[in-house]
Amino acid sequence: MTPTIGVFDSGLGGLTVLKELHRQLPGTSVLYLADTANVPYGDKPIEVVRDLALRLSDHLVSAGVRLIIMASGTSTAAGLEAAQARYPSLPLVGTIAPGARAALLNTTGPIGVIATNATVQSLAFTRAVHALEPTRQVFELGCPAFVPLVESGNAESLGAETAAYEYLQPLRLAGVKTIILGCTHFPFLLPALHRAICRIGDPEFRPRFVDPSEEAVRDAACLLPHSSNPSYGPTSFAASSDPETFGRHASALLGETISNVEWLTL
Ligand code: DGL
Repeated sequence: MTPTIGVFDSGLGGLTVLKELHRQLPGTSVLYLADTANVPYGDKPIEVVRDLALRLSDHLVSAGVRLIIMASGTSTAAGLEAAQARYPSLPLVGTIAPGARAALLNTTGPIGVIATNATVQSLAFTRAVHALEPTRQVFELGCPAFVPLVESGNAESLGAETAAYEYLQPLRLAGVKTIILGCTHFPFLLPALHRAICRIGDPEFRPRFVDPSEEAVRDAACLLPHSSNPSYGPTSFAASSDPETFGRHASALLGETISNVEWLTL
């Protein structure tokens, strides 16, 4: 069966987008690529992440997908434009413009963005917010400890709560009321982030977290070509390193058994 939608990330983060895909477009067949050989992306130079995004897109195009979701803020910042230039007639969705749009909806005041260092350095979220509202203040913060915590199955650990506590302090001082989860791994840290907010104990600091995936999948649903007759079936998974461990952690995060994760050769 040819998959209808291709999704990729460096590892487990894109599962937050996959969950949303299952909710909004139930049953649509998806091929999910996890580039676990290269995780984390956030510490790599932007050109390296761009090259990986293009190789993953090439792989999905060869598999026959009708639409690609770059389920990674870092890949979106580094490679969305390059992939659009390479595949001008293929609908491609990232997480940054949808995240900015969702954050501006019914909010005032400065917007916080937590993301990988590479995404923050690119200032892609600031540009996306300013494209819609040029005077809105944006405060971006790199949180490099978060991705390894999710990848190692420790998203709900005390270590995650302590890291969240440290990262949230400057956002509190900046007076943000809305925080974009600018890396797709981060929604898995929401319980730790909420516990850290309780520990901070400032009644004025009750930020709303924005997960870009809902808006990104809405874009995908609009862009999916009507003529494509989506195929229905279970999601297939492939990982570029240690597919077994990926399958075990993905099963825990999705609450369903993921078996038969294939090897991905890029
Ligand atoms: N989940 C990706 C993102 O949204 C990649 C994180 C990483 O591998 O550093 O940025």
